[in-house]
Amino acid sequence: MEVLDRIVEPTEIVAGRYQLRPPSPRDVPDILAMARDEHIRLWNPLSSAEQDPHAWVERWADFNGGQSAMFCVYEATEGRLLGNVSLHKIDFEHSAGELGYRVAPWARGQGVATTAVRAVTDWAFGFLELTRMQLIHGVQNPASCRVAEKAGFLVEGTMRSSYRYGDGALHDEHLHARLTTDPAPDPGRS
Ligand SMILES: CC(C)(COP(=O)(O)OP(=O)(O)OC[C@H]1O[C@@H](n2cnc3c(N)ncnc32)[C@H](O)[C@@H]1OP(=O)(O)O)[C@@H](O)C(=O)NCCC(=O)NCCS
Repeated sequence: MEVLDRIVEPTEIVAGRYQLRPPSPRDVPDILAMARDEHIRLWNPLSSAEQDPHAWVERWADFNGGQSAMFCVYEATEGRLLGNVSLHKIDFEHSAGELGYRVAPWARGQGVATTAVRAVTDWAFGFLELTRMQLIHGVQNPASCRVAEKAGFLVEGTMRSSYRYGDGALHDEHLHARLTTDPAPDPGRS
C-alpha cells in the first residue's frame, strides 16, 4: 500500500490562557468522559475513543500519521483537558482545510471553543498558508453555529439532509467558511 507523505507535524499553539497541543496518555480519563457526553455523542462522536481511549491518544498524539491536526485544549496552568479542535481535509492544492471541535461538559460556556477555533484558524492561515477554512454543523446545533459566527466564519448555505449524526438521522447542515481576506473577528467576543 502506498504510504502518503506526512503533511502536518505535531505542534503546540499558545492562545491566551489556553494551550493547544496533541493529546497525551494522561488525558485518557477525560477523553473517555468527553466521549460519553450526550452532546458529543450526538453532534461529533468520539466513537473510537470510547472503544479504546489509549489507541485514540496514541493515534492523535502523532496527528494521525501526520495527516490531520488534533489540538487538545488545556487550561495553561492547571493543565486539565477542556476540549479539542481538529483540522482535517488539509488540501494544499486548493489551499483549504476543515475544522471540527468539541468542548468537555465541564468547560462549556466560557469561550473555549471560540478561542481555540480562532487560534487553529490563525495557525492554518499563518503556518500552513491555507487561504480557506470551513466548518460544518447540524442546523439544530445552535451553540456550534454561534461558535462559528464568533470565530468569523460566514454562513455560505444550508446543505439539506447531508449528514447522519449520532442519533442515526440525516440532518440539514450549515456550511461556514472564513477566508484570509475576511475581516478578523472582534477580539472582544470570545
Ligand atoms: C458546541 C460547543 C463546541 C461549544 O463550546 P463552548 O466552549 O461552550 O463554546 P463558546 O463558549 O465558545 O460559545 C458558545 C456560544 O454558544 C451559545 N450557546 C450555547 N448553547 C446554545 C443554545 N442552545 N442555543 C443558542 N446558543 C447557544 C453560548 O451562549 C455562546 O454564545 P455567546 O458567547 O454569544 O453567549 C460545545 O457545546 C460542544 O462540544 N458541543 C458538543 C459537540 C459539538 O456540538 N461540536 C461541534 C460540532 S460541529
